[in-house]
Amino acid sequence: MRKACVAAKSAGNTLGFVPTMGALHEGHISLVRAAKKQCDVVAVSIFVNPAQFGPNEDLAKYPRRLEEDSKMLLAEGVDLLFTPSSEEMYPAGATTFVDVDGMSERLCGKSRPGHFRGVATVVNKLFNIIQPDVAFFGQKDAAQCAVIKRMVRDLDMTVKIKVCPVVREPDGLAMSSRNAYLSPLERNNALVLSRALQEIQRHYQNGEHESAKLINEARKTFATQPAVQLEYVEVVDAESLDPLQTADPGALVAIAARVGGTRLIDNILLN
Ligand code: PAF
Repeated sequence: MRKACVAAKSAGNTLGFVPTMGALHEGHISLVRAAKKQCDVVAVSIFVNPAQFGPNEDLAKYPRRLEEDSKMLLAEGVDLLFTPSSEEMYPAGATTFVDVDGMSERLCGKSRPGHFRGVATVVNKLFNIIQPDVAFFGQKDAAQCAVIKRMVRDLDMTVKIKVCPVVREPDGLAMSSRNAYLSPLERNNALVLSRALQEIQRHYQNGEHESAKLINEARKTFATQPAVQLEYVEVVDAESLDPLQTADPGALVAIAARVGGTRLIDNILLN
């Protein structure tokens, strides 16, 4: 992979990179298309990164569809696909990790200790292998984007980070590889996440800027759907992930909730 990337760059091409864990959907494809538009050569990685899963999480059952994914990427004109094994990425004795202190414990980091450490570590490793000019991430994982941007800044990396908008199903459900776990009933119940976010946006646009009150509106929406357990709803600064008492334009509202056994996240930027 390193050789292929070096060859592409030494021929004068700009290299775009889309890191993924596979089970690709339109959200990932939107990142690939953005990369194709902006860069001469596009590399994608598919690696279900064990370091970002907690001991009781869904690492074993995470959907793996390499053949289907490869076909989709080929059809999009992706030039390079990297699908390393866990042993290649984490050889025995690997003990070096990247911790984005303070931010790694925010939002999902609270209930998924070690998650962002695993993400930052693997993304750093992938950047070292691929050396992209631009890397593309989805706004759906807003906290992940903030953590990666901070890592890139703090470690003086030259890669540019491009964040692309959340891609939604026509009924509002944010696309996620984990939607595959949902039964038809759960899928319908899961719409409460995007509904709660729309409610917050509506109240914000009607002049309510106090975070506690906006959060309360989201809680009210969740109360109408008791089959879904809200894990958190927070109004934070989109860059630092620090909680905000008053929501400014551009503030990030992030939600995590459990729909049956599936943990889903979603977010919006207030405007
Ligand atoms: O967003 C994801 O799919 C993963 O967290 C990433 C960035 C590929 C790192 O494993």
